[in-house]
Amino acid sequence: MKRIVILGATGSIGRQALEIVDAYPKEFTVVGLAAHRNAELLMRQATRWRPRCVAIVDDDAADNLATVLPAGIDLLRGAAGVAELAALPEADLVLNGIVGSAGLDSTLAALRAGKTLALANKESLVVGGKIVLEELEAGAGRLLPVDSEHSALFQCLMGEDSTAVRRLVLTGSGGPFRGRTPEQLGRVTVDEALAHPTWNMGPKITVDSATLMNKGLEVIEAHYLFGVDYERIDVMIHPQSIVHSLVEFVDGSVKAQLGLPDMRLPILLAMTYPARLATALPQLDLAQTGVLTFEAPDESAFPALRLAYEAGRRGKTYPAVLNAANEVAVASFLEGAIGFCAITDVIEETLGRHAAVEVTSVEALRDADTWARKHAGEAVRDRGRR
Ligand SMILES: NC(=O)c1ccc[n+]([C@@H]2O[C@H](COP(=O)([O-])OP(=O)(O)OC[C@H]3O[C@@H](n4cnc5c(N)ncnc54)[C@H](OP(=O)(O)O)[C@@H]3O)[C@@H](O)[C@H]2O)c1
Repeated sequence: MKRIVILGATGSIGRQALEIVDAYPKEFTVVGLAAHRNAELLMRQATRWRPRCVAIVDDDAADNLATVLPAGIDLLRGAAGVAELAALPEADLVLNGIVGSAGLDSTLAALRAGKTLALANKESLVVGGKIVLEELEAGAGRLLPVDSEHSALFQCLMGEDSTAVRRLVLTGSGGPFRGRTPEQLGRVTVDEALAHPTWNMGPKITVDSATLMNKGLEVIEAHYLFGVDYERIDVMIHPQSIVHSLVEFVDGSVKAQLGLPDMRLPILLAMTYPARLATALPQLDLAQTGVLTFEAPDESAFPALRLAYEAGRRGKTYPAVLNAANEVAVASFLEGAIGFCAITDVIEETLGRHAAVEVTSVEALRDADTWARKHAGEAVRDRGRR
């Protein structure tokens, strides 16, 4: 029986992880659940799964939760409480389904405590890849990818020698605006951006998928997870979302991992690895799927991919700034403060003003994050005034 902590329990990844716990009552028991501010759902989850501990970031939400939490469940408060839960001594597995750079502290705390970490929070690696790898090397912690593309690469690389790898190819659906011109993109609405054609996810990653920044963040994530340089990581648009990624080897052979676009599949593998458990989830039927197509991404209509490659290659604090500016710009787009194309404009402007420093500590990352949020916020306000 694996004892599991789920961070971001109230989100899309967290709720799907709890569905898996439900489907395999003999395999998993929940010992910790964490959220940001959704006290009501966290309380219902705590009542249902009876963890030893819950953590919630928001102060008012913590006060509300304290009055209704079933007896025998400890309450941890604030970001520090979530990081404490990530290191819970009795946990065998920690699933990080927090959205945004806020997930980095918990990633580091889990690895420092020697945990097996199932990582959905790609921003941890984008922002703090170097520090996360140092923590991994220094301790007994282990990292398992949850993102479907990285789970696919992980599966294609099983049993392979890293020197035999020629390149990694990340696939992406292309999002709801595939094929649109920059002029058409200027007119898209928030509702259209949130209507993803193949995946059902939280709002931030759904907008990232529409700009292709999600693919850019995944390129940086793959660089750190698999130790492959940016020149050997490519992106291909595959609208059906059946081939989740590919690895090309030096002998010309290519391995791909296929499956239905259902995040419960990569979450399940990360939760059971190295075992594979039989599932009752819908299975892929290629005859029914029919045609699978592939095309190059349109980088002129979707500049986010280029920005992410550039930030990744330049290294230092650039990826942290890319990520923070993206978080601010996406939140502003969702609030209606800026248009869709302004998301990447804000990021590019913020990156252009940044004087990067080497990442020698978490504090250097925090400073870059704070700086980027301030400047991206100004860039958003400038656009509002125009
Ligand atoms: N959804 C997918 O299918 C999918 C696929 C691949 C990768 N991912 C990655 O998985 C992560 C989560 O995505 P999601 O779609 O599940 O997001 P989501 O639905 O928006 O859920 C986010 C979760 O994080 C919590 N949270 C937000 N801010 C927090 C903070 N500052 N500290 C602690 N917890 C915080 C939220 O709590 P509240 O509910 O209380 O706000 C919620 O539980 C992202 O990094 C995303 O890129 C997601």
